[in-house]
Amino acid sequence: MKKMMIIVVGLYSCLLLASLVFADAGAAKLAAERCSGCHSTARICEKLGNRSAEVWKQTVRRMVSNGAKLSESEAVAVADVLGAAKPGSKPLCQ
Ligand code: HEC
Repeated sequence: MKKMMIIVVGLYSCLLLASLVFADAGAAKLAAERCSGCHSTARICEKLGNRSAEVWKQTVRRMVSNGAKLSESEAVAVADVLGAAKPGSKPLCQ
């Protein structure tokens, strides 16, 4: 019975981890799509690695007020991905 619990918890953790990884990939793709309409993503890439997710949240909110099409939850997901992204990260940077 104990073994069964360990298997169930193990499987559940794997699923949770996978969904986090895919959510990140989704948000990175979203950033590449929605952040390239007005200026090139080079403008974003040159800032990767020296801005925290908190600061990116302010930037992304400003972009939404500039006219970027992102819901509040998409804006937060994109800011989190940008805050964690390394300089030159794909698919945002070429
Ligand atoms: C509707 C047009 C539009 C879209 C879409 C857009 N931006 Fe911008 N962006 C601007 C304008 C206008 C400026 C210059 C004025 C300013 O900084 O607000 C700018 C400037 C920037 C800058 C340089 C200024 C700074 O704070 O370093 C960054 C970085 C940036 N945008 C990131 C993004 C990100 C990330 C997204 C996607 C969430 C995005 N932009 C989507 C219009 C847009």
